[in-house]
Amino acid sequence: MAFAHGKILLLGEHAVVHGRPALAAGLSRGMTAEVVGVDGARLQIPAWGVDVSPEDESAVAQAFSALLAALPEAFGGMTVRVEPGIPGGAGLGSSAALAVATARALADHAGLELADDRLFDAAMAAERVFHGNPSGLDHAAAMHGGLMRYVRGTPPTIVPVTAAQPLSLVVAQVAPGADTGRMVGGVAERLERLPAAIGATLDAIAALVDRALAAVEAGDLATVGEAMTVNHGLLAALGVSSPALDAACHSARAAGALGAKLTGAGGGGCIVALVDERSADAVVSALAESGGMVLRASVG
Ligand code: PMV
Repeated sequence: MAFAHGKILLLGEHAVVHGRPALAAGLSRGMTAEVVGVDGARLQIPAWGVDVSPEDESAVAQAFSALLAALPEAFGGMTVRVEPGIPGGAGLGSSAALAVATARALADHAGLELADDRLFDAAMAAERVFHGNPSGLDHAAAMHGGLMRYVRGTPPTIVPVTAAQPLSLVVAQVAPGADTGRMVGGVAERLERLPAAIGATLDAIAALVDRALAAVEAGDLATVGEAMTVNHGLLAALGVSSPALDAACHSARAAGALGAKLTGAGGGGCIVALVDERSADAVVSALAESGGMVLRASVG
């Protein structure tokens, strides 16, 4: 059985596409993959009704095809079955975890030691099918888990972060996830139209990431929460929030969350709220009212 972590983006999404740092947490749940047959290349995710061959036209089939092409020595007509432990399309890094777990299952079956850079590059080839300019953050979190500061590059700069006390998070899906490629493209266009203002917004997000990181290391949860809330406002300025995401962040804070923001590509999808013992149950109840998935996670 091969495993890859889901992730929660704590701060820095979108800015990370443009070279700024981001702070992400790998989840203990993710995707599990296993080779179950050798008489034809297929990718099966029974829980999601997916059963494709690399020749099919769907995005998941194309991503599988790109992954196989990037790992020719591991490819021998294998059928890989994947068990999702996180929802898809919710900003929890399911597509990156799918690619990393599948690559690991193929390599394990072929008896290959897959170096980190090969695994990362193969998973990135698959992700480019979903959106043209991925930062790679989801893949780093899928591979390594834990809390990390990430800056894209060749190779990326990944620094593990140790929290003075675990961060207690509530993630709630408030709307169906929007298309990541479209959201990333929208920010790039706004940056082109308004380079000084949007560049400064990206720099402000970078400053929040590093301020929050220092606060995580110091156990100053109030500052982490405040940085998340301000980061949400700046994401709205980039054009990636929505009335439903804004409302969910507001109700999380009204219920006692230390901070809340959209997480992932935005336009829909999930918010993440930082809570403490006193506020956790009230925040979960407030967010459950919108009817979508709500999960709790402790990271760090
Ligand atoms: O929605 P997700 O989990 O795919 O996260 C997207 C994060 C972005 O920063 C918007 C894009 C990226 O490639 O980092």
